[in-house]
Amino acid sequence: MAKNPLSRRQFIQLGSGVIAASTVAQNILQPRVLSATPRRVAPSDTIRFASIGTGIRGCEHLQASLDVPGIECVAVCDLYDSRHGAAQEAVKNPGVPACRDYRSILDRKDVDSVLIATMDHQHRRIFEDACAAGKDVYCEKPMSHTVEDGFSMVDTAHKYNRMVAVGSQRVSSILYAKAKEIYDSGKLGEVFSINAYWDRNSPSGAWVYPIPPDASPQTLDWNTFLGAAPKREFDPVRFFRWRCFTDYGEGLGGDLFVHLLSGVHFITSTNQPALRAQSSGGLFHFKDGREFPDLIETLYDYPNFRVTLRCNLNNNGGEFIGFYGTKGTMIIKDSTLSYRPEDTRPEPEGYSIFGWPKALRDQYLQKWNEEHPDPKPLNWKVDEEVENYTVPHGYSDTADHQANFYNAVRTRKPVVENEVFGNNTSIGCHLANFAYFNKCVAAWDPSAKKIVKG
Ligand SMILES: NC(=O)c1ccc[n+]([C@@H]2O[C@H](COP(=O)([O-])OP(=O)(O)OC[C@H]3O[C@@H](n4cnc5c(N)ncnc54)[C@H](O)[C@@H]3O)[C@@H](O)[C@H]2O)c1
Repeated sequence: MAKNPLSRRQFIQLGSGVIAASTVAQNILQPRVLSATPRRVAPSDTIRFASIGTGIRGCEHLQASLDVPGIECVAVCDLYDSRHGAAQEAVKNPGVPACRDYRSILDRKDVDSVLIATMDHQHRRIFEDACAAGKDVYCEKPMSHTVEDGFSMVDTAHKYNRMVAVGSQRVSSILYAKAKEIYDSGKLGEVFSINAYWDRNSPSGAWVYPIPPDASPQTLDWNTFLGAAPKREFDPVRFFRWRCFTDYGEGLGGDLFVHLLSGVHFITSTNQPALRAQSSGGLFHFKDGREFPDLIETLYDYPNFRVTLRCNLNNNGGEFIGFYGTKGTMIIKDSTLSYRPEDTRPEPEGYSIFGWPKALRDQYLQKWNEEHPDPKPLNWKVDEEVENYTVPHGYSDTADHQANFYNAVRTRKPVVENEVFGNNTSIGCHLANFAYFNKCVAAWDPSAKKIVKG
């Protein structure tokens, strides 16, 4: 679009000799993991936890737990024996007891809480058994494998009065805390449009994980892995690449959408599922027998804004959330955050008037300037500046998320990403998949607690 070659705005900037909005500073945010502990933790106040599911994420958690004050891993549990050694290595304790059956852990009186990092279809049973056994629960995201699972888990947590954290760790990130501060300050104006994506372009990013050479019906408990899912012959591809299959995971919805939705819900203080969702996408490249698409794009309607999400396993676009407001734009890109104000100072219309004869144009501009005498160009002050933030090298939002959970276990004050929050973002994944597989608008019916065709 052609613009007036020298707008009033540019004139003002040149006239004042100050272009404040171009100032860019890179701020490194300070970690706060220690602040999640309200006081020094006495040995008698140490929280003893057990890790159930010690695969990729479970081992990440065990490593991160070493940075969290006042906790101790007292048991690890996994269906696959080689994960026991991996867990002991991750927590740097070869002597920590390891088992296959999580129920033996729930029987232990010295276990205060459990960290569930199993395949998604296993979450509900372990979560509910843990609550019934009086344990507080950190459950990996997505909290639920089905809508029904989620509401049952919420009810169970409430019934047994348990502290719960769901594991989209960005909710505890210092970067997201800063983003929320900016959003809440009103500097973005009204935000009606939010756009997020998470794109990866590698077999590992598409869950084509190698099958360990020792995997066999002897080294792992195949029937317990299946759980309530349909019975099948031993198939290590299903065990190690479970995210590809509807019986155990939710594809890109449960893997990545849930992180993006958790970030959006946290920053906008939303604690309800979207009203409806529409999805498109397809399986274009990874045609390896999987049941989920390798590209999915979903448009969500929330009461006061719209959210578009995309996950594409065929391009390495990284992770992004953009908030587009009437007064500014805020972008989270991987581990950076930027805020850019919109220049909303009044200026005369400078496009269509170039289709007018000069005399008319001058008349309009003269009238406009008479009607807008202030501020005088030299007094104009741009009080908003571009802001950039990043996290320090090696920062772990997983350690912060754990610290917030253990803080809740001590204080009995719930975390932000509790069972209700986690259920709502999980419903967002289920809405996306319902719309994709049924080729329809997926509508959320809050009274029936069900997804229906919209
Ligand atoms: N928050 C994050 O950034 C993040 C990252 C990765 C995975 N996750 C989540 O963590 C969970 C695990 O994912 P993963 O990549 O570690 O999967 P994984 O396959 O590497 O590990 C899952 C482990 O759970 C074990 N398991 C399953 N059922 C069990 C049971 N009944 N008792 C004991 N162990 C059991 C399996 O043996 C397996 O080793 C999933 O819910 C996933 O969505 C979260």
